[in-house]
Amino acid sequence: MATATVNQVKTIAVVGSGTMGSGIAQIAASAGFKVIMNDVETSLLERAVRTIRGSPEKFVQKGKLSEEDLKATLDRLTHSVELDQVAQADLVIEAVTERIEVKNELFARLDALCPAHTLLATNTSSLSVTEMARASNRPRRWL
Ligand SMILES: NC(=O)c1ccc[n+]([C@@H]2O[C@H](COP(=O)([O-])OP(=O)(O)OC[C@H]3O[C@@H](n4cnc5c(N)ncnc54)[C@H](O)[C@@H]3O)[C@@H](O)[C@H]2O)c1
Repeated sequence: MATATVNQVKTIAVVGSGTMGSGIAQIAASAGFKVIMNDVETSLLERAVRTIRGSPEKFVQKGKLSEEDLKATLDRLTHSVELDQVAQADLVIEAVTERIEVKNELFARLDALCPAHTLLATNTSSLSVTEMARASNRPRRWL
């Protein structure tokens, strides 16, 4: 199957729901994408949802965002600790802890779980993208 292009992306998975992951998930859901968040514990995912909900509520209070739009954004967000759920996504964005062994193991698992057309991306600030792409076994399907 051909690789998905960015224009074909409808569902985005975000793995790691900390500072960056929750922000990426919020922006993606606000932009109209269906978003699946993954982390190692449900409590972390619930905390991310609280963070995501809290930020736009300030805009609702100031009249810059309607209640309906906020509800629609939150309705597009789901989460699971089961990594296989991210296989539904057209694009998987990794935002886990900045450790190469953690990211390489994750990308190897994603390669086994995700269909061939799935795009993969990393939010690393300093690690080798080439090494992670190699660990994913699909270096041509990277953003
Ligand atoms: N914080 C920043 O300002 C910033 C800026 C640019 C890039 N980054 C990069 O973004 C990435 C995430 O940074 P952060 O600040 O959000 O970190 P964080 O510590 O806030 O969040 C990381 C999350 O990843 C989760 N996690 C760890 N291993 C996992 C696994 N195997 N599967 C699923 N979830 C897992 C952790 O439980 C945690 O919730 C890092 O690569 C970091 O270098 C961070």
